[in-house]
Amino acid sequence: MLVRAYAKINWSLRITGKRADGYHDLETLFQTISLHDSLTFAESDRLSLTCDEPFIPVDDRNLVLRAARALNAPPVAITLRKEIPSGGGLGGGSSDAAATLVTLSAMFGISKPLDEVALSLGSDVPFFLVGGTAYATGRGEILTPMQRLTGIPLLLLMPPERVSTARAFGMLRHYSPPLGSDCYRAMIDDDLLSHVAELVNDFEEPIFNALPGLRALKTRLYKAGAAWAAMSGSGSTIVGAFRTTAKRDAARERFGGVRAVAAETV
Ligand code: C5P
Repeated sequence: MLVRAYAKINWSLRITGKRADGYHDLETLFQTISLHDSLTFAESDRLSLTCDEPFIPVDDRNLVLRAARALNAPPVAITLRKEIPSGGGLGGGSSDAAATLVTLSAMFGISKPLDEVALSLGSDVPFFLVGGTAYATGRGEILTPMQRLTGIPLLLLMPPERVSTARAFGMLRHYSPPLGSDCYRAMIDDDLLSHVAELVNDFEEPIFNALPGLRALKTRLYKAGAAWAAMSGSGSTIVGAFRTTAKRDAARERFGGVRAVAAETV
């Protein structure tokens, strides 16, 4: 069984407050994009994981193995081919975990609902069970699917810096009020890319202060013709959305010193 695990970006990410359980409440508009990891699953006499990326742990720190164990599925040999950088704000580990839950459930006819086990693995994992364009609140697990925004050309700038999500939450200095799902629905119906002022990411201020090079990349994306540019999640990826693939491809030529990957919304 060969499956793809798609990355995500956040069109908007408002942190709305700190909770008693140590997590934060947030409001975000998630979006899956074409960049993806690939996983294979084969029945085996023991559970194992191999990965083509030497810096990714293949022990129980890896969400793929944690997902397989949480499901109590029969043993499988799993291979993971990484394209999504870890610590990049693109949800790669969470997407790999969700793909594992969905695939093993289908392979072995496991019918238990996956939402709870997904949330136990990480706040972003429930979104990857749904995918597309989705409004989310709570820790990110209270999901409302939205009309899917497909085929929007993107340019992903992936600087070498890696950001720990837990550290990024610790660096937040202020919270934003939520806009509500109706507001996002109206922006999507209108033209999301013309609502740049409402599409904020509360992590940008603290992360850009710590890593000013990231702010510069966002500015350069706008100068290169992006209709919208922002940091994804808690960073470090900076993403730009373009009106046409020609504009995106022309912009890509202008980013020599940083890994620049073309993608699109799916
Ligand atoms: O849920 P996940 O394990 O991905 O979160 C990593 C860390 O990010 C958490 O331990 C917590 O410190 C922080 N976090 C948070 N509020 C959220 C999601 C994550 O404070 N909604």
